[in-house]
Amino acid sequence: MSFFRGSIRRLAVSAPTLVLALPLLAFTGLSAQAKEYRIGLITPPPHQWTKAAQDVADTLKTRSEDRITLSVFPSGQLGSEAEMMRQLQSGALDFAFLTLGEFANRDDKYGIFLAPYIAKNTEQARKLLSGPTAQKLLASVSKLGLVGFGYGMAGLREIATRDTVTDSKDLSGKKIRTVPFKPELDFWVKLGAAPTPMPLPALYDAFANGQIDGMQIDFEGTWNSKYYDHAGTIIHSDHMMFPLIAVGSARNWASIDPADQTMIRETISARLDSLIGSYGAIDADYLAKLKGTDVPVLSVDRSFFGTAIDDWYTEWRERAPLLKELEAEAALLD
Ligand code: BEZ
Repeated sequence: MSFFRGSIRRLAVSAPTLVLALPLLAFTGLSAQAKEYRIGLITPPPHQWTKAAQDVADTLKTRSEDRITLSVFPSGQLGSEAEMMRQLQSGALDFAFLTLGEFANRDDKYGIFLAPYIAKNTEQARKLLSGPTAQKLLASVSKLGLVGFGYGMAGLREIATRDTVTDSKDLSGKKIRTVPFKPELDFWVKLGAAPTPMPLPALYDAFANGQIDGMQIDFEGTWNSKYYDHAGTIIHSDHMMFPLIAVGSARNWASIDPADQTMIRETISARLDSLIGSYGAIDADYLAKLKGTDVPVLSVDRSFFGTAIDDWYTEWRERAPLLKELEAEAALLD
């Protein structure tokens, strides 16, 4: 009997407290609500960009104590970069790691990072991507309905061909795969080749069945996707850098709690920084692996490309005057 009386008394005391506490609990529950986001990219699971996206997801899960889930969609599972860009703009996708292709195809000034030999090595690429010109371009993605978080990069651009190549004349008239990216296409036109735009996920089959004669690619992809299986020559040219731009949907971003925004921004930018910093060693490692195959590796420098590079600069300084600012930054690098 006394037990029941005690229970009733406890209930009587706690009921008003509960009434008062309920809105507070609901409020706390709201700010601590589980959040699910998605990030899309075109690289396959073993690629460094995909690994970096997965690391961002893991870090956010830990830092938010399991409250934030970021699902990673590699290999173009959510569509091409053009489609992902539209999804970001409409709010159907939260985040993406993209090449600059969709940006440069809308506005020539994003093409300046593809200036041949603007960076002599990955360390110079890193400096240019954190420099004032790059940051100006990052901020202006807001005009496209996006939020910019920073740059990463892939390895420097190299060339793999089906046939043996000893001279740039051997590339004349050849169908060379490029990303669907105006400045890259233009470089190959100026070299007398027939650039064939093709996104990464379609590349292996096209090279294997002879639909293309060669490709502009990095050592990492050449090794991991086994493009070297069908290659007659790998040209070690290091002729362009290849940035990643990390963006989010401005529409969705606006509804994210400011503390979570800070956590997401910090996590992405820390991981991109380590990604960029790691590429010198990654390129060297994959080059060594490729040198261990039967495919000859031809090392070339700017002179291999004849007048094509000067011609490219002449045209792109006109098309994208911001290139001159990037060149001025590059001239100060050692
Ligand atoms: C490519 O299309 O060649 C590419 C895309 C993303 C990362 C690396 C390479």
